[in-house]
Amino acid sequence: MTRPMEPTEAAAGQGVPRPPTGVGDGRELLAWLRLMRDRHPVWRDETTGALHVFRYADLLHVLSTPAVFSSDFSAIMPPPEEGAPNFTEGVLTMTDPPRHGKLRRLVSQAFTPRMIAQLEPKVVGLTRELFDTVAGADDFDLVASVAYPLPVIVIAEMLGIPAADRELFRTWGEALLSTNYELPVGAVPDGTMPEDIVRQLSEMHAYLLGHVRDRRATQRGDLISSLVAAEVDGDRLTDGETVSFLNFLLLAGHLTTSLLMGNTLLSFADHPDQADAVRADRELVPRAIEEVLRHRPPVVFQARVTREETELAGVTVPAKVPVMCWQMSGNRDERHFPDPDRFDIGRTPNAHLTFGHGIHFCIGTPLARLESRIVLNELLDRYRDIGCGTPVFYERSPEIFGVKSLPITVQHA
Ligand code: HEM
Repeated sequence: MTRPMEPTEAAAGQGVPRPPTGVGDGRELLAWLRLMRDRHPVWRDETTGALHVFRYADLLHVLSTPAVFSSDFSAIMPPPEEGAPNFTEGVLTMTDPPRHGKLRRLVSQAFTPRMIAQLEPKVVGLTRELFDTVAGADDFDLVASVAYPLPVIVIAEMLGIPAADRELFRTWGEALLSTNYELPVGAVPDGTMPEDIVRQLSEMHAYLLGHVRDRRATQRGDLISSLVAAEVDGDRLTDGETVSFLNFLLLAGHLTTSLLMGNTLLSFADHPDQADAVRADRELVPRAIEEVLRHRPPVVFQARVTREETELAGVTVPAKVPVMCWQMSGNRDERHFPDPDRFDIGRTPNAHLTFGHGIHFCIGTPLARLESRIVLNELLDRYRDIGCGTPVFYERSPEIFGVKSLPITVQHA
């Protein structure tokens, strides 16, 4: 279901190995990224027409230049099929300035470090409740018990929607992600979707619309109420914009953070000496989490599209070309990070690209850091030894790196 694009002569490397189809445990992808960083740092894929960017400095340039590298794909992406919900209008990550700045100001008040710090006691309480559901167990699935439910409960509470509906969000989130399973990385979807996916997304749209209409009728003091009441330069968000924004927040706010928690334990299992150092000195927890974010980033790339012809690292790039920004590659670029494959919780500075860069820098960063710090501390408080079991199931989407389930075996403290 791809729409072939005209390949450019520039950097159309002959015999360049194709990217692996999924991320899995990351090994194959990391080997491909290293090769590309060294030999084809800016590569135009003839099959999809997309440009791939691998080096840290080039990534910084692309992500810092929204006037050329746009987040608005409407020029190259067909509109959704008739009857399929449109989840792109009003989504921050798909909006360019000046509208992006206005939309971002609407939500940023809810995500300031101060607002997030105020959530700490609530998040600690919720984390303990979730761990209490497996109290006494010597083995359990960390994702099912804590890493998946916690971020979704927190974001649902902030929005003001019932956390009890979280299984619905999971189904819908998987439906959204599954739309890119079969596409090569960088291919532009042709807008068609299997019927069952359209049905699930329509259900999600209707569900969120119900909440938006409810808040238009009655202010309830939650984030949805603030969004429907907020004005951007005299304009209000439409129902459609509010719904897609909520949908994005729900997905952005939970899957990524849940993956980060799983990735933290996997990193500790691979590097027991560093896990011991963190256990001995809890002050190291935030730095350890930053190194996990660099070394095993939950999101592996971001996409942009060129608005006009431009040049990148000596390569001429025409307008309307999708640009895949491999932040996972930037995080391992030896030109920026000394000994980049080494997992080193003492690494400083550690300016990884996992939360993006520039005007779209992740708004949820303080929340993701808070939740993962609290979960890691709770794990270390409760258990004197934690072992990762098998089987570990990795997510299937080509853009995310992490586990769907993580059986762990624990010894109680
Ligand atoms: C480990 C967890 C997370 C990771 C790795 C992550 C990653 C990212 C990245 C890479 C971007 C930039 C996208 C781009 O430039 O196109 C982004 C943007 C965003 N993230 Fe996150 N995120 C995480 C957690 C969260 C949470 C918890 C929330 C909210 C509850 C959130 C909300 C957002 C929003 C609203 C944006 C759009 C910002 C904009 O376009 O101006 N994220 N995130």
